Amino acid sequence: MSIFIDSANLIQIKTALELGWVQGITTNPLLLAQSDLELKALFVALRKLNDGPIFYQLTSNSFESSIAEAHQTLELLEKQLVIKLPPTDLGFRLCSELSSRIPCCPTAIYSPAQALVAREAGAQYLAVYVNRATRLMGDGLKLIEDIAAILKDSQTKLLAASLKSPDEATLAFLAGAHHLTLPYSTLMDMSRHPLSDEAVKQFETEGVGLVQRD
Ligand code: G3P
Repeated sequence: MSIFIDSANLIQIKTALELGWVQGITTNPLLLAQSDLELKALFVALRKLNDGPIFYQLTSNSFESSIAEAHQTLELLEKQLVIKLPPTDLGFRLCSELSSRIPCCPTAIYSPAQALVAREAGAQYLAVYVNRATRLMGDGLKLIEDIAAILKDSQTKLLAASLKSPDEATLAFLAGAHHLTLPYSTLMDMSRHPLSDEAVKQFETEGVGLVQRD
């Protein structure tokens, strides 16, 4: 299981990676559009911060230009590249074509049928939009459960995305997600609990240890 940060904001990404338990970075075209950095400079910076997977979504709209974009991105990100693909006829065709050479992740998945197709197309990951599915269709966690059953014993791993709270992230994992990608605020909230804060405060104010606290 890995937890990734879903962001293209360098400050957020640096803070998240410094936590020590975040294993990589997922991006999408909308997140990249918010970055102040030019894309190649951003990739260089991300590789300096992190040696785990970096997910990049192809934006070309033809087969040939998408293959060229995939190779261009591979030159920049090398072994760290995971290619995200929209769940369109073109996206799944590209997944079939590329997944034996570059890990692929069909994204914005809303149905078990799309998961079956991704599995057949050799995807290494599959990004399911949990919170959006709950908001738009009723039950994103049931969708995770169904897709996890479809992907059982396959090489395709379920990446739960669009997660808005630590509870939702945890429930997605319990429902069968293999990996989670979290926006910065949810990620930072994962390790926090008000009762833990109280306990820590008491350790600090009433406890003693080998060294004097600053
Ligand atoms: O990568 C973005 C995906 O996680 C969707 O998130 O917050 O737009 O529903 P959101």
